[in-house]
Amino acid sequence: MPRTSKKAQFLRNNPNTLREIMNLLEEFTKRGTKEGKKLIYLAGGWPQDPPPSLLKEAMLEVISNEEKFSRAVQYGPTRGLTETLTAIVDYEKGIYGRDINESEILISNGSTEIALTVLEAILDEGDEVILTKPHYLNFSRQSYFVGNLNVKIKYWNLLRDDYTYGPNIEQLKELVNDKTKAIILASPGNPDGQIISDRLFNEISEIAKEKGVFLITDLAYRGFCYTEKPSYFSNAVEPHEIFICTFSKELRIPGLRLAYVIASKEMIRNFELVEQLKTLCPNGFIQKVFAEMISKEDNIKSLKEFIERGNETYQGIALMSYRYLRDKIPEFYLNEPKGAFYLFFNHSSVNPNSREFCTHLLEKVRVALAPGIDFGMDGWTRLSISPGVLNPELIKEGIERIREFIDSNQRS
Ligand SMILES: Cc1ncc(COP(=O)(O)O)c(C=O)c1O
Repeated sequence: MPRTSKKAQFLRNNPNTLREIMNLLEEFTKRGTKEGKKLIYLAGGWPQDPPPSLLKEAMLEVISNEEKFSRAVQYGPTRGLTETLTAIVDYEKGIYGRDINESEILISNGSTEIALTVLEAILDEGDEVILTKPHYLNFSRQSYFVGNLNVKIKYWNLLRDDYTYGPNIEQLKELVNDKTKAIILASPGNPDGQIISDRLFNEISEIAKEKGVFLITDLAYRGFCYTEKPSYFSNAVEPHEIFICTFSKELRIPGLRLAYVIASKEMIRNFELVEQLKTLCPNGFIQKVFAEMISKEDNIKSLKEFIERGNETYQGIALMSYRYLRDKIPEFYLNEPKGAFYLFFNHSSVNPNSREFCTHLLEKVRVALAPGIDFGMDGWTRLSISPGVLNPELIKEGIERIREFIDSNQRS
C-alpha cells in the first residue's frame, strides 16, 4: 500500500483518547449488561440534561416555514448567516454583557474546528506555543498537526509542587521568547475545573500584547462558573486576543455543532480564508434555528435563566461529587472544582501510571475515567460529573467502585 503522511502516522500514534473511549462506550452499550456489571461512564464531558425547550420550538418554526427552511438548507456565507451573526451579537450582549459587532465573529461547526482554524492561521513550522499543565488534550495535538509536527510546546504549570492551584506569572514570562506565537488557555478549565482570575488574565494578556503573542482563550465552560464570573467574559476584545465559544455545553447541543470565535476583524478574515478550505459554510439549519430563537422577544432573558439554573444544578453536583470523592478516597489529592464538569485527582500513591490505572478500573470495576497523561499530567485522572447530572447516584456508585478497587488491590 502507498505510504500515508507523517501527520497521519502521528494521529495513528496519538488518537484522541476521549473519542476512542466513546467508541468503547458504544461497544459496551451494544453488549449490554450480559457481561457482569453495567459500565459507569464518567469519562466524557458532555451534558446529559436537555437543551432549552425554545430550541425545539425554533426548529419546528424553521421546518414549517418555506422561506426559512429554504434559507436553512442553502449554502451560506463562510463566516455564517447574517441573521445568525446578528443573533450572536445580541446573545453576547444579553447573556454576558459583551459588546462586539458582526465583523468580529466567525461561526463554525463546533469549537474543535475553530481551534484548528485559528492555529492554521497563526502557526508556522518552528513556532512555539505555550499550553497550561494540565490542558485540554486537543490543544497539543492540534498544534503539532498544524505545524507539520515541528512545533515546540512549552508548559506552564497551573499547580504548585504541593498540587494546590497557583499559576505563577513569573514562570510564564520565562517561557515566552521570539518564537512564541500563542498562549492557549481554557477557563473554566478542562480538566482542572479552575477559573483564571481577572487579575491573572490581565497579566497574561499584558505579557502577550507586549511580546506580540496571540492569547487564545477557550470559553467552552463559561456557562458553568461556580464563582463570580470574570470580566474577560464580557470585556471588549483586544487585537491579540481570541475567544472561542461553543453552544455544545452552554445550550446542551454538542451533536448539533454550533460555535463561534470572537477576534479582531483582521483575524476573522484570516480565519474565514482557512474555513473556505475546510468547509464552504457552517451548518445552515442550526444557524437558522439559533437566529430564529434569538429573534423572539424575551427569549434571551429565558436563555439566561436556563443557563443560570443549569449553573446552579451543575455546581451542586460538582461540589457533592468533590466531597464524596475526597471523603471516600482520602488517598487521592484533588482541588475543589470552581467551574466546568470535572474532578481532576492525583492517584500516585495508588498507581502513578494514569493509563494503567484507568485500564484497570475499567476491567476490574467497569468505571470509565479519562487518564491525566492525555491532559499533560501523569499520575492524575479526570472524572466527569456531567453523566451524573440527571442521576447523582451514578457518580456515588462510580466512586464506591473505585474505593472497592483500591481495597481489593491492597488485599491482594
Ligand atoms: C475545553 C474544551 N473546548 C472545546 C471542546 C469541544 O467543543 P465543541 O463541541 O464545540 O467542539 C471541549 C469538549 O469537551 C472542551 O472541553
